[in-house]
Amino acid sequence: MLLELTDVHVYYGKIAALKGISIEVHEGEIVSLIGANGAGKTTLLKTISGLRTVARGSITFRGEDITHLPGHQRVKLGLCQAPEGRGIFPGMTVLENLYMGAYPYKEIRQEDLDRVFSLFPRLAERRKQAGGTLSGGEQQMLAIGRALMSRPRLLLLDEPSMGLAPKLIALIFSIIKEINEQGTTVLLVEQNATQALSLAHRAYVLETGNVVKSGTGQSLLNDPDVRAAYLGGDLGAA
Ligand SMILES: Nc1ncnc2c1ncn2[C@@H]1O[C@H](COP(=O)(O)OP(=O)(O)O)[C@@H](O)[C@H]1O
Ligand SMILES: [Mg+2]
Repeated sequence: MLLELTDVHVYYGKIAALKGISIEVHEGEIVSLIGANGAGKTTLLKTISGLRTVARGSITFRGEDITHLPGHQRVKLGLCQAPEGRGIFPGMTVLENLYMGAYPYKEIRQEDLDRVFSLFPRLAERRKQAGGTLSGGEQQMLAIGRALMSRPRLLLLDEPSMGLAPKLIALIFSIIKEINEQGTTVLLVEQNATQALSLAHRAYVLETGNVVKSGTGQSLLNDPDVRAAYLGGDLGAA
């Protein structure tokens, strides 16, 4: 088991955002978390990254209890999130942004850079361009590329398709699949449920801070309740 959350509770003040979440991610998987706005998806990823305090329950990563480990130490263990809203450094070049991703290490490895540029040729073409001048899709690529520079064992992605045109969404999803096939385990949060479930080995459905369903991506795609609530009743999707 790579990551295991057991009965995790997280609060904002007195309001419970996660009400006893238990999920697991195995080595090599793509696991998707789907759910409506406000379900707790972002809170869950931030909690795994160490940006939210666990009030009750536990998190283990690679067999180690990380429930209260600071976020930067989780990165060193191989846990890395491409930040919400892309979070790239607009005044730095593409290359400098990628270098920032390698901060857990003393030096930048050429093979890491080569991997990012082969996944995202667009970033290679724009390596000297300021991050802030990239298009939305390119900034998303840069955010994922930067996360890969830390050599994650588990890559956490929060709505990577948000705000992108359909063609770019398809491209981002196919690159996530490729990253996974190269050996990186992925935990993916998405509102774009059809594509997230199609891509996932397994998935969880979140509702108001609880896991209400789980199963293989395919079984959830075929689940009538999931279809009605999240797939817009689109019977042609699967
Ligand atoms: N910084 C915050 N302060 C207070 N409440 C928050 C904060 N961030 C999120 N919440 C609340 O926690 C719940 C889960 O939010 P979030 O994790 O962002 O959901 P999702 O990513 O699924 O849309 C929501 O009810 C939201 O209003
Ligand atoms: Mg969110």
